[in-house]
Amino acid sequence: MIRPAALTLSMLLMTSIAAAAPPQPERFGQTADGQAVHRFTLKNAKGVVAKIITRGATLTELHVPDKSGQTADVVLGFDDVAGYESEGNQYFGCTAGRVANRIAKGRFTLDGKDYQLAINNEPNALHGGVKRSFDKVVWQGVGVETPHGPGVRFAYVSPDGEEGYPGKLTSVVTYSLNDKGELRIEYEATTEGATPINLTNHSYFNLAGEGSATVLDHTLQVAASKYTPTDDTLIPTGAIESVEGTPLDFRKATRIGDRIEELTETANLGYDHNLVLDGTAGELRKIATLKDPASGRTLTVHTTEPGVQFYSGNFLMGQTGKGGKAYPHRSAICLETQHFPDSVNHPQFPNTVLRPGQTYRHTCVYTVSAE
Ligand code: BGC
Repeated sequence: MIRPAALTLSMLLMTSIAAAAPPQPERFGQTADGQAVHRFTLKNAKGVVAKIITRGATLTELHVPDKSGQTADVVLGFDDVAGYESEGNQYFGCTAGRVANRIAKGRFTLDGKDYQLAINNEPNALHGGVKRSFDKVVWQGVGVETPHGPGVRFAYVSPDGEEGYPGKLTSVVTYSLNDKGELRIEYEATTEGATPINLTNHSYFNLAGEGSATVLDHTLQVAASKYTPTDDTLIPTGAIESVEGTPLDFRKATRIGDRIEELTETANLGYDHNLVLDGTAGELRKIATLKDPASGRTLTVHTTEPGVQFYSGNFLMGQTGKGGKAYPHRSAICLETQHFPDSVNHPQFPNTVLRPGQTYRHTCVYTVSAE
């Protein structure tokens, strides 16, 4: 006969062993130049499943039940590595860096020295470069138990001079998922030489399910009273202006499609703006709520960053994604928590220069639920 005490002890032991087993990598495929790419799967007790691959430390799938328990994958992506390496990949789900967003004409001066980056978004540099930007390199991944649930930790060491940036930079990105539906992304980086840094996650969300025709019926609320106006190449003018009376005022939940046409004829082609977040940067605070009224799925965003690039998928062009589905114009949105674009050339913006001895830290939490 098994005594109750013994049973409890062995059950406890089993639970702790189960809880302590970190997610294991499975092979996802290989890059065109022969590097193995692995995938990690995080699951919670509410049926939420997140899949993340080592190429670009990229979130490839995020399955979320709707209000009636029907599950859909709410992020755009591809079925294989070749898809991620194709022209159709507009930074889907990746970790963008070393400097996400734009740097004017790819130029900056740091400690009296001039740097020139590759121009990959005429006439500017976008999202860290051409061949070895952080979305394209294969990170080292390991399953971990974190205080916030099972997770995966990715590390990448970017050599001094890579993509034109100074300083050998070590970056660590940790994803975790808990039973509250919190997909937490924590970034940390240290450097051996001064460098600008701005890491973000570039997931494209459609809460009706990836491959749904539009995101314009979603409602969005963002705690941002200000934004950074840009020139016609999307480089900030340096001003910080109120969203009052503009289509960028999302302080109250508003349907994304309601005012987007006012922006179609602008250089931004729709929403493609850095919103200056209310509250104190450095503190984790709730900054946005995205809802799909039909499915009831909701995404809330918390971040420690001063800004969020709200991008309404204006360049999506019907490319073929997962399961052969097409991703049309404005069929997903990105809420990229980050520092302001071109900060390295705007001393009045929050600082993006990391120096030896300092640690860069950024937390973004995407919480999914249905109501
Ligand atoms: C930028 C867009 C750009 C897109 C590329 C976004 O972060 O703001 O202008 O087209 O990334 O996928």
